[in-house]
Amino acid sequence: MTIKNINLVNFRNYNKERIEFCDNINIIIGDNAQGKTNILESIYVLAFTKSHRTSNDNNLIKQNEDFCKVSGTISIDNIDSFLEFFLSNNEKNVSIDKKNIKKFVEYVSKFKIVIFAPDDLEIIKGSPSIRRKFLNTEISQLDKVYLYHLNEYNKYIKIRNEFLKKMYDSNNQSNKLYLSILDENIINKALYIYQKRFEFINNLNDIISNIYYDITGDKKLSLKYDNKLGIECFNEEKVKNILIKKFKDNLDRDIFTSSTNFGPHKDDFSFYLNDTDLKMFGSQGQHRSAVLSLKLSEIEIFKQKINDTPILLLDDVFSELDDTKKNNLIKYINSDIQAIVTTTDIKEISKCLLNNSYIYQINKGKIERIEKNGKTTL
Ligand SMILES: Nc1ncnc2c1ncn2[C@@H]1O[C@H](COP(=O)(O)OP(=O)(O)O)[C@@H](O)[C@H]1O
Ligand SMILES: [Mg+2]
Repeated sequence: MTIKNINLVNFRNYNKERIEFCDNINIIIGDNAQGKTNILESIYVLAFTKSHRTSNDNNLIKQNEDFCKVSGTISIDNIDSFLEFFLSNNEKNVSIDKKNIKKFVEYVSKFKIVIFAPDDLEIIKGSPSIRRKFLNTEISQLDKVYLYHLNEYNKYIKIRNEFLKKMYDSNNQSNKLYLSILDENIINKALYIYQKRFEFINNLNDIISNIYYDITGDKKLSLKYDNKLGIECFNEEKVKNILIKKFKDNLDRDIFTSSTNFGPHKDDFSFYLNDTDLKMFGSQGQHRSAVLSLKLSEIEIFKQKINDTPILLLDDVFSELDDTKKNNLIKYINSDIQAIVTTTDIKEISKCLLNNSYIYQINKGKIERIEKNGKTTL
């Protein structure tokens, strides 16, 4: 799939701007704090209805304005769709071809992107919640039913935790029937989430080691799913029984802490180079290569599962990579994928990429297309 253009109104530091994208490489050049990441963020918002770098939607609205709008045309199998995202202080709407979509789950599955930004190193170094967010975001793009079950799961966990607090406060444990109904619902949703996470991590493991080897010529990279279920592969009956037992065994502790101490909301996964846990022992360079391999593996999974390529967003990553890794990345980008790449320095971008590209210069929220043989020499 490709994105043909994007229109911004009052988004971050943009007043009213439009960019036309080409189907291959689009390069956005600009000094720091000019609005490069904001462009990628707007594309992310158009895909997910929320930002990848803030959980506060209001930050997206230009200062002193009361709404923002992002819209764009995407093309899937040569069929165009017009996506729109509107946000004000009290309203958030999305539409496809001017038709309002009430359920965001229906909207989010449409437009697929893979983003690689410097902050993604946190997928290795950061807290488990960052890795869960990664799993949720990526699996949701492949399977909207997953997002539906995840939202339901989170809703039930919230209700359960509130109920546990009531039980604790009133010292009354008589209403176990209500709790058992809640638990049944939670376990049903949890089963789907575990199944899809097992599947996704297995899919990544089929690919990531080869990609890491291609990029680094180095040892075997693998992912280890840490779900505390104590099993190697998913089996619905088995997982169901484990969950029933865990919920039962943990009940006193759950009431005491007014929280649910077991379930996919506690999941984690880690990166291993042979037998070494990268989080503990990896170098910065190894972390970077591992995350890059992860992102490139995702592209492969998209190709396999949805028979289409996602749009690749690369935020300021070239300057951090050495030449070999840069060339390997370029090899992937130069295949049949649309990429939108930001950089502060055009010299970081290899000549072979420039040939197939549109180039934009950004200056204080103003966007200007640069003709390669025109007014600006590159
Ligand atoms: N809500 C907002 N309203 C106005 N300006 C904003 C808003 N959010 C961020 N900015 C501005 O956007 C700029 C940063 O944009 P960004 O895309 O992160 O820069 P970079 O080019 O370094 O990637 C800064 O100048 C910041 O002040
Ligand atoms: Mg930036």
